[in-house]
Parts: sequence; C-alpha cells; structure tokens
Amino acid sequence: MSINPTFPIGIFDSGVGGISVLRAIREQMPEEHVIYFGDQGHIPYGPRPMEQIRNFSEAITDFLLERDAKIIVVACNTASAAALKYLRGRFPHIQFVGMEPAVKPAAEHTQTGKVGVLATPATFQGALYASVVERFANGVELFQNTCNGLVQEIERGNLTGGETRKILEDALLPMLEQNIDTVVLGCTHYPFVIPLIQQIVGEKVRVIDPAPSVARQVQRLLEAGGGKSQSSARGEVRFFTSGDPDALKTMLPVFLGEDAEVGKVEWLDDHVIAGKMPA
Ligand code: DGL
Repeated sequence: MSINPTFPIGIFDSGVGGISVLRAIREQMPEEHVIYFGDQGHIPYGPRPMEQIRNFSEAITDFLLERDAKIIVVACNTASAAALKYLRGRFPHIQFVGMEPAVKPAAEHTQTGKVGVLATPATFQGALYASVVERFANGVELFQNTCNGLVQEIERGNLTGGETRKILEDALLPMLEQNIDTVVLGCTHYPFVIPLIQQIVGEKVRVIDPAPSVARQVQRLLEAGGGKSQSSARGEVRFFTSGDPDALKTMLPVFLGEDAEVGKVEWLDDHVIAGKMPA
C-alpha cells in the first residue's frame, strides 16, 4: 500500500496516556505531522465493556482517517486489547500499530523469574494479553495489578502526589516482597509516573516503557511503505479531545513538553463524532 508522506500520523488514546507514545514518536521523527485524539469524555476505558471500547475506537479511527491519517497508532493498551484485531479487519487499507504489555522483553531479562505487570482490567481480560502471556511468559511468574484510580490521577497531572504514591505503593510493595526485578507498564498513562515508580521499587528493578519500541515500529512501517516525511521542518501536532480542550491545552507542557492547538469534538452516541474543528 502506498502512503502519502506529507499526511499526518494518527494517534489515539482514552486521554493523555498516548502522549507517552507521541513523545517517543516526536523524538524519533520530529518532521512528522501528527493528529492526536484523546477521548477524555469517556475516560477511563479500563473498566468499560470491550464492545463499547471497540465502538469508540472505530469511530475515532474514522475521524482520524477523515483527516488523512496515513497510519494509526492505537496508543492505548486497553483499546488495543478490545479493538486492534477488529480495526485491522474493518480498515484493511490502513496500517495500525497497537500496544501490548511488554512481557516478552521482561521475560527475556528477568533474573529472578518474577515480573510485575501494571495494566487496566480490560487489558488483563483481553485475548491479546492471554496470547502474549502464552507465547512469551515462558515459565516466568507474573504479578498483576490494575492500579485503580491511577489513570484519573495522571489525567489530573498528579504525577508525584500522595494519592498517586499510595496507589503505586499498594500495587508494587507486595510485588517487591515476591522478589520481582522487572515492572512492565501495560498502560500508556503509566510512563508519566516512572520517576515515582522507580523511587518505590529502587534502582535495581527495571521498569519497561514500551514507547520507544512502538515509535521504532511506526518508523519501520512508514519507511517500508514509502510514507516517511521527507521534510526537514519540524512537523505540527494537532490535538482533539472529547473532554475539555482548555484543560488539555494547559496540561500539554507537562506531558509533551510543548504547546499545541486543541480542538473539541462531541459524541452523538457511541458511533458518531461531530463538532466544529479548527480548520
Ligand atoms: N491509556 C490507556 C491504556 O493504555 C487506558 C487508560 C484508561 O482509559 O483506562 O490502557
């Protein structure tokens, strides 16, 4: 399939989590234009039924394709668990890059044979996680935790405060007692609290942020399809949110380290997005 190099990369997540992936894409391919959709009106995705997350993901994909996305990054483990396979079948002409918990590198590197995995309930319930564990865990013992409320704290920009610390300590301290030496971040929001996680688990425990390898995968696919931007100028990032655009705009320097335009979108039901966009 041939891809127009001047078109933007489309990225979506339930909220700001996918910005951890966007950041890595920006670092690796600063010349690419990006459209980012944060479905903050529906956050969190984690406790929602799979079918509903699939419907949201399909509508968001339509939205991004209407704006010429040349490749779609499902920068959300939960949406990948619920919808990635479906999206690939439904939109066969476009390439998707999704997220899956990095059990493979964790299992390859652990010395103690014990690994902690942090992800949302839907991610743990999905067939994608079951298949990753079946293929790659290789006898390594996995300790899982859903970190209830952590996504919401991160959305509020609470990356170091008491409540965030408490959720992480409740998840991680029992895992440390079990002698884990690796933590897999199976939710794209969680890389924003890596400094706090590292403080809790200590420097000897390895924390795996999957974003750089996802960015490399996006680059490989674009290069293979002739779709990589040839421009030498820095690409533009445009955000759309179903939540509060002003609030997101205020938070962008925290999460992305740069400012950008944010447009508002409305959901009419689970399937249709409407609203006035900046041109
Ligand atoms: N950032 C998301 C993920 O990677 C989901 C957070 C949520 O909405 O529950 O799973």
